[in-house]
Amino acid sequence: MDSIRIQGGVELQGKVRIQGSKNACLPVLAATLLTGETSLIRNCPKIADVYAMVSLLRELGCSVTWQGNALAVDADSVRGEEIGSEAVTGMRSSLCLLGALIGRCGQVVMEHPGGCVIGSRPIDLHLAALQQMGVTFQEKEGKLLANADRLCGASIHLPFPSVGATENVLLAAVLAQGDTCLTGAALEPEITALCRYLKQCGAEIDGEGTSRLVVRGGRRLYGTEFVIPADRIVAGTYLFACIGTGGNVFLEQAPWEEMDAVLELARSMGAGLCTAEDGVYVQAPDRPSTPERIFTAPHPGFPTDLQSVVLAVAAVSQGETLIRETIFENRFRVAEELRKMGACVEERGADSVLVRGVEELRGGPVEAKELRGGAALVAAGLMARGETTVTGCRYINRGYENICRDLRELGARITGA
Ligand code: EPZ
Repeated sequence: MDSIRIQGGVELQGKVRIQGSKNACLPVLAATLLTGETSLIRNCPKIADVYAMVSLLRELGCSVTWQGNALAVDADSVRGEEIGSEAVTGMRSSLCLLGALIGRCGQVVMEHPGGCVIGSRPIDLHLAALQQMGVTFQEKEGKLLANADRLCGASIHLPFPSVGATENVLLAAVLAQGDTCLTGAALEPEITALCRYLKQCGAEIDGEGTSRLVVRGGRRLYGTEFVIPADRIVAGTYLFACIGTGGNVFLEQAPWEEMDAVLELARSMGAGLCTAEDGVYVQAPDRPSTPERIFTAPHPGFPTDLQSVVLAVAAVSQGETLIRETIFENRFRVAEELRKMGACVEERGADSVLVRGVEELRGGPVEAKELRGGAALVAAGLMARGETTVTGCRYINRGYENICRDLRELGARITGA
């Protein structure tokens, strides 16, 4: 079933365990290709994008088996460098296989990973960086052919801290001949997780957690055991949903140390927060208020992946707020669906919307068109009066293991996909 039904107006109460991070798990799974051995990756979220990545690894000749929520990946017999088309075009995150396969096989043939509704998602930064390492690219019948007779370390600067481009450089650099110095690297926690995994495999990487990464290339890499950190975006989704519905929740395993900007905004909206070793307590205000301006930014700024759910909460908050999206060029698609529920959201130029809080939203039929907008519609349904049906849940299942199960554990009246 591709739809979720929600009876709104119920305060969220209780505790829920936060799943493993989609955006940390995918590059680590790609990195398992770099060792000819077996790695055990624990706390993998059981989501569509991980299932797609598992299929891609199997297509490439890896043996991949689930052991509970761990994945055992044996990359000894990686045979092909042709990455299957259907999985690649539907999933941007397979792009990080490019760097890993170039490192392991020296050549890759893949469908051009297209854009999606939130933006054109170009890959110019990936290509420019890998070209500096000796990779040549050709486009042929819609496919991207990459070749590196000899992959060499290089001094590379990213003009924008692209998460994916940073990951691809790291994945190519660990097996390249010579050292790579990457400046302008992304600071997202998922990069740190990837560095930690690679170092556990035997890679030598300095500068973890900074925008300057130095990789000593050519080291032999070994299989290892690794635990995927909890998903900061899923934790933030439930945190803001609680702020919007009222109530109080405990988000078990929430990686709050990676969420400063999220916690800062939550407090400014009136939430009471108490961090503990194993998670974070959230006490919602009677009615949230929003700051005059909210804007997304690369980490450690406010994450673009939580912009839609904050937009939904701002729709029922006191006052008005200008939300500016600085990362993707089309990440306000959810606004048209929120307006159907009575939200007052006006476009302000290409990259901003003005949200005037209303007393309450009206439940009704709405459609998810992408992952985080879909999660925002579920949050809106929790806050709205009456029943909301969200269709297009296949998008939500790409990033949330089971959003209905999680929210039911917090007392929501929700059924569906
Ligand atoms: C990663 O996407 C995440 N995906 C995204 O999460 C996240 O929103 C994004 O980083 C920003 O934090 C995964 O990790 C699988 P970027 P990525 O390269 O790597 C432009 C979610 O909902 N750009 O940092 O694709 C690009 O168009 C997803 O979980 C270029 O112009 O993000 C975008 O505007 C959505 N040229 C901006 O940079 C390039 O070569 C950020 O892209 C690469 C990117």
